[in-house]
Amino acid sequence: MWAHSYVVATLSGLIGFRMSAADKGICFLAGLLHDIGRVVLINLYRNDYPSVFGAENIISAEREMFQCDHIQAGVWFLESLSFPEEIIMSVRCHHDINGADKHTEILTSVYLAEGIVSMPDIAFKYDGDGSWTERHVKVFMDRGFRGHDVIEFKSILSGRCNHINSFFDL
Ligand SMILES: [Fe+2]
Ligand SMILES: [Fe+2]
Repeated sequence: MWAHSYVVATLSGLIGFRMSAADKGICFLAGLLHDIGRVVLINLYRNDYPSVFGAENIISAEREMFQCDHIQAGVWFLESLSFPEEIIMSVRCHHDINGADKHTEILTSVYLAEGIVSMPDIAFKYDGDGSWTERHVKVFMDRGFRGHDVIEFKSILSGRCNHINSFFDL
């Protein structure tokens, strides 16, 4: 899961940099922490949470099992630590960016990064929990990105796979 978070963080930073309006360091941090709610749930439900990993829809499975999904758990956790608003909002919006009206570049960088690393043909899935949807395509295009950008992003991440595998001992 941390390898997934690290890949999303790397791509969030890259997308933030390419959108130029966003601080790529903040985008990286937001990407790294986007699934922190999963860590919270794993620690609260050590015996039961592993069964969620294989679920087709992780969010629905979490709600069914724990009456709380990792988005809400992450938001509560980071709020309790007084994290900056843009990081908390990026956690809140990382699977659904509808309604995001502040810090939109940071939120978009994480949202798109989660989507891109979840594409069916991606080589480095790790323990991801996202999906690439029509909504992602629209947001991606609206931000001026095109198909060649996806190819470039995948290529950059693929080039880092060995390093990531070795860093996380995978
Ligand atoms: Fe997630
Ligand atoms: Fe994720």
